[in-house]
Amino acid sequence: MPTFSLNLYFSPQVPTFKIFLKMKKIYAALFALTFSGSVMAQTTTWAEHVAPILYNNCTKCHNPDGAGHFSLMTFSEAFMTRYNIQYMVTAGKMPPWPPDTTFSRFAHERTLKASEVQTINDWVNGGALSGDLGTAPTPPVYASGPQMGAYDLELTMPTYTVNAVNDLYRCFVIPSGLLTQKMITALEVIPGNRNIVHHVLVYQDTTYGAYQLDQADQEPGYTSFGGIGVSGAKLIAGWVPGSGPNILPNGFGVRLAPNADVVMQIHYPSGTFNETDSTKIIFRFAPSVTGIRSVGNAPILNHQTNLQGGPLFIPADSIRTFKEAYQLPGVNVSLISVAPHMHLIGRNIVSYAVSPAQDTIPFIRINNWDFQWQGGYNFKKVMKIPASSWLYAEALYDNTANNPFNPSDPPIDVSLGESTTDEMMLVYFQYLLYHSGDENILIDSSDIATGTEAFDFSDKIKSLQLYDLYPNPSRTDIAADFYLPKTTDVAIKITDMQGKTLFTQNEKTIVAGITTRKFDISSLPAGVYSLSVNTGNVSREKQFIVQ
Ligand code: HEC
Repeated sequence: MPTFSLNLYFSPQVPTFKIFLKMKKIYAALFALTFSGSVMAQTTTWAEHVAPILYNNCTKCHNPDGAGHFSLMTFSEAFMTRYNIQYMVTAGKMPPWPPDTTFSRFAHERTLKASEVQTINDWVNGGALSGDLGTAPTPPVYASGPQMGAYDLELTMPTYTVNAVNDLYRCFVIPSGLLTQKMITALEVIPGNRNIVHHVLVYQDTTYGAYQLDQADQEPGYTSFGGIGVSGAKLIAGWVPGSGPNILPNGFGVRLAPNADVVMQIHYPSGTFNETDSTKIIFRFAPSVTGIRSVGNAPILNHQTNLQGGPLFIPADSIRTFKEAYQLPGVNVSLISVAPHMHLIGRNIVSYAVSPAQDTIPFIRINNWDFQWQGGYNFKKVMKIPASSWLYAEALYDNTANNPFNPSDPPIDVSLGESTTDEMMLVYFQYLLYHSGDENILIDSSDIATGTEAFDFSDKIKSLQLYDLYPNPSRTDIAADFYLPKTTDVAIKITDMQGKTLFTQNEKTIVAGITTRKFDISSLPAGVYSLSVNTGNVSREKQFIVQ
C-alpha cells in the first residue's frame, strides 16, 4: 500500500471563515460563467436532474419525520431552501460526512460527486426551474419503525421531557433483565423523537455505577457530557441521524454480559426545551453463544495508556498536537470499524497503522472535527491488520478564541476529563482475532437501510457473489464487485430490459476472492439495465439505472 505524508496535515489550518470566503469567490466565478455564456447546454430542472440527487442523498434525513429538521421531498420545499442547499453542498457540509474520502473509504458513505454539486449549482443559478413535475421520480417512502426485521429484545427508556435550554447530554439506564450472557448480532437505535435526538451512544455497564448516578438524580436519567461518566462501562454502538441498523457479519457477535445495564447517552441540542422523547434500542441475539466469534469494541488508542508526550493538556490560547501509538500483539487482527472521539476543541484527527513490512494502512482522517457529527465508521470490508503492526493516532487541539467550537470565551486551560470544557483523545475499534478469509467479508452489503440485500457470510463464502453495483444510479460509469470462491473464467454481460445484450467481456482465470470491474456507461441512454457475472455453472445478476 502506498505511504502518505502527514506533514501538510498538521501545518496550521486555514481558519474556516477563509475557506468560506474562497468558496464565495469560486462561487462568484461560477455564477459569472453561467450567465456570461448565455446559452446553457441543457436546462437543469428539479424534476429531471435535482430530485434524483435529493432523493438519493438528502431525504433519508430531510423528510417530514426525519432528523434533518425540514423536508426536501417536494419541489416547493427544495425551491424555498435552494440558496441554503446550494451553500451547504458547495461548502461540503451536506450531506454530513466528516471522514476525508481521499484518505480512506468506508461502507455507506454519504457524499456527493462533483458532478452532482455542479448540477445543484446549475439548477439554482438557472432559476431553480421545476421542469415537468409529472415526470419527476416517485418520492422514496421511509418506514418509521425498525428497519432491522426480527429482533429478540426491545429496551425503551422512560419518557423524558427536556429540561435544559442549552445542549443536553442525558444518560438513561435500562436493565437488560437478561440473566445469561448473549451475543448481539444486530442492534438498532430507534429515536423516539427524531426532531430532537441528535446522537446516541450505547454502553453496557455491569458496575452499577450508571444506576447509582441515575438514582441520585430526581428526573429520569442523569446528565453527563463526554461519555456516561462510569469508567468500567463499555461502548456497544453509536447512532447519528441517518444511521441504519448495526448488523454484524454472519458468525460475529458482541458479548452482552449477564445482568448488564444498557445505558444510552442522548444528545438533545439547544432549542429542544420542553420537548418529549422516549428512544428505544432493539437487539437480535445469536441463538446460541457457542461458535460465535466475539467482537470487541475498545478505545485501543487511548489518552490514558498510550498517549505520547502527555498528559492531555492544552493551555488557554494554545494549539497542541498529540500522538498515540499501540503495538498489536503477535497475532493477526481483523478490524470492522473505527470511531474517533474528542470533545469540542479537537480540530482534526488521523489514525492509521504501519505493518512490520512498513506498509501504511490508513484508517480515518477527519480534517474538520465536529463533536455533533461524531460516529463510528464501518470499513467497506473487514480489514486484516498483520501481527505486531503499530496503530497510531495524531490529533490537533485548538484552544484559541479563533476556534468557533471553543466552549470557553475567553479560553481556559483544558485537560483530560468528561465535561464540556475537558478534552479526550480516543480511537475506538471493533476488532476480533483474524481468521483466514476475513478480508473477503464485505460489510457494505449488510445495509438494509438503503434497500440492499444482506448476504450470508460464513467464514468461507462458498458461491459466486455479485455485490451491489455502484454508483447507482449513474450517468458515467458503473462498478461491480464480485466474489469468486475459486479461480475461474468469468463472463460479464450488460443487457437492456428487453434482454438484448449490449456488451460482453470474457476474462480468463480471475483469481479467487473479490474482484472489481468498472464499465463506461456514458453512451447508454437513460433507463434500467442489468449486469450479470457468469462462471459457467453459476450466474448472478444486478440491475442499475442510467440517469
Ligand atoms: C444524515 C442525515 C442528513 C443527510 C443525509 C442530509 N442532511 Fe442536511 N441536515 C441534517 C441535520 C441533522 C441538519 C441540522 C443541522 C445539524 O444538525 O448539523 C441539516 C441541515 C441542513 C440544512 C440547513 C442548514 C442550516 O443550518 O440552515 C440544509 C440546507 C441541508 N441540511 C441540506 C441538505 C442537502 C441538500 C442534503 C443532501 C445533499 C442533506 N442536507 C443531507 C441531516 C442530514
